[in-house]
Amino acid sequence: MLHSELPAVAHAIMREMTLHDVEAVHTAELSLFPADAWPLEMFFAEIQHPTRAYVVIEKEGEIVGYAGAMCIADTADIQTIAVLPQYEGQGYGRAMLDFLHRESAQRGAQRILLEVRADNLRAQNLYHLNGYRQIHCRAGYYNDGVDALIMEKSLTLNSPGATHD
Ligand SMILES: CC(C)(COP(=O)(O)OP(=O)(O)OC[C@H]1O[C@@H](n2cnc3c(N)ncnc32)[C@H](O)[C@@H]1OP(=O)(O)O)[C@@H](O)C(=O)NCCC(=O)NCCS
Repeated sequence: MLHSELPAVAHAIMREMTLHDVEAVHTAELSLFPADAWPLEMFFAEIQHPTRAYVVIEKEGEIVGYAGAMCIADTADIQTIAVLPQYEGQGYGRAMLDFLHRESAQRGAQRILLEVRADNLRAQNLYHLNGYRQIHCRAGYYNDGVDALIMEKSLTLNSPGATHD
């Protein structure tokens, strides 16, 4: 069980994603990313892979958020992060990011990357506030032609962008 860093008022816990969570996570995935949802099998494969770290936010028995990262050598990648719309703005996204940063650094990563749709301003805002900066743009990356922004955050203590707040 992970240490939760969620505000006490949120009545939620953050814990590692298990095989038992995958169906609920996949249901959330289908509603959040109808055009690009991962298949169920991908979540099963991801959480069993030793280079991956996945968490969920559970509130009153319901999975309300989930996130995961891949960590290989000195570079980690956020694979996915999502919070159900009715639970946005309660710090869950930030708490899961914080966890993935700590976990990736513990595994030896010096930087963490992610990609985000150019039209997803809410997610970009979350990433900027938590130390990420844009390093690249992949034109027309998504199925509907929207660009992907590649963002990076340093995980080493003395680098610019390593800290937030
Ligand atoms: C993007 C997403 C994960 C954010 O999750 P969230 O739980 O709402 O995020 P948080 O509540 O932790 O952070 C957002 C809020 O906290 C603030 N915040 C977050 N980190 C902060 C920080 N380090 N310092 C100050 N403020 C911060 C933000 O300004 C924002 O404030 P608001 O509620 O007034 O808008 C969520 O909106 C989502 O799942 N969207 C749909 C799926 C998606 O787009 N996923 C990302 C794909 S790349």
